[in-house]
Amino acid sequence: MDLFQKCREFTRARQAMELGIYPFFHMLTSGQDTEVMMNGQRTLMLGSNNYLGLTADPRVKAAAVKAVEKYGSGCSGSRFLNGTLDIHVELEVAMARFLQKEDCIVFSTGFQSNLSIISAVTSRCDYILSDSMNHASIVDATRLSFARTIKYRHSDMDDLRRLLERCSADEKGGILIVTDGVFSMEGEICNLPGIVSLAREYGARVMVDDAHSIGVLGEHGRGTAEYFGLEAEVDLIMNTFSKTLASLGGCVVGDESVIHYIRHNARPFIFSASIPPAQVAAAHEALRILEAEPQRVRRLNEIAAYMKKGLQQIEAVKVRESGNDLVPIIPILTGSAGRTMYTAKVLLDHGVYVNPVFPPAVPSDSCLLRTSYTATHTNAQLDEALSIIEKVYSEMAGNTEIDFDIEI
Ligand SMILES: Cc1ncc(COP(=O)(O)O)c(C=O)c1O
Repeated sequence: MDLFQKCREFTRARQAMELGIYPFFHMLTSGQDTEVMMNGQRTLMLGSNNYLGLTADPRVKAAAVKAVEKYGSGCSGSRFLNGTLDIHVELEVAMARFLQKEDCIVFSTGFQSNLSIISAVTSRCDYILSDSMNHASIVDATRLSFARTIKYRHSDMDDLRRLLERCSADEKGGILIVTDGVFSMEGEICNLPGIVSLAREYGARVMVDDAHSIGVLGEHGRGTAEYFGLEAEVDLIMNTFSKTLASLGGCVVGDESVIHYIRHNARPFIFSASIPPAQVAAAHEALRILEAEPQRVRRLNEIAAYMKKGLQQIEAVKVRESGNDLVPIIPILTGSAGRTMYTAKVLLDHGVYVNPVFPPAVPSDSCLLRTSYTATHTNAQLDEALSIIEKVYSEMAGNTEIDFDIEI
């Protein structure tokens, strides 16, 4: 059989294209901001992870330009060999200080961070207990690791205890519990107090992926552990630079000996080129702004509460209730894939972009429209978005023809 036969027979995406509701790869011809030019039209951006609005901040842009002027466009090699610049090390020092841990490694992407951390710290005899709703990069990291991975039911502490009981009976292996801090599709905060207390009881280590929590939760925006007052109890905090920090890249912070070990054992880190100068400088400048302007985090939390209330007041809109009011990720439940694609398209036609979410990111009957917000959204933009959503939902009321299943 020809290897490429499956490619020729792949029709899922084309079906949605033929129906005119294909929801991906819309083209932007502007920067990432609260309003963008998408498909040639002014569009309110309610589907970005630019939580503090720093991708458009002149200070962040200037830092990136200055770094390119000094260091050029790339590092042409691994951090391990020729690819470590002084600005990589400065960012590591700043991130470790900000997140109150001994040491830090900076990686080229958030995805690569999870692959590197988890595959390095776990080995054949160990166990990884992973929340069933964790991000794809954690799932793939567990596949890369030689450790035994068991998923626990989403945020279910009884299930986690049951698994810890079982795994801790095997004294040959250590245990890593890994969880998203804020679950990216649901906007839910993990049960960190429950996880930390079980970890202590069973001698397990805890890693939190704070991609959607840094700059979002905690008085200083230090994320899930700060929000719960548990910074000393979390062993490893992973962060991405592609969200609040307005760049690309990622990092992990933890004890010096653990970070030293990851630095010398993480194959996705060692055998890949280092994060380019512009991305390092942009992330570092964004971090400086986050530290100097914590009011941005407050504004973001205010917007989250305002939009949740506003969406709940629109009769036909079903907001997912499990999210915390501070989190600027507010999913609208849509159910079928057909309704999700159709609604996203009509919203976009009216000038509002939201993220349509399908399996495997969510269970098959629980598709949703993920709305997310930025601290620099103005009240006028938020009210305009709410009135467009209300209009679209009232125009679509009673239309059951769009409740069809379509794989994507
Ligand atoms: C929870 C979580 N972890 C990791 C990643 C990967 O980060 P990046 O996109 O910066 O590679 C993402 C990004 O979508 C994420 O949402």
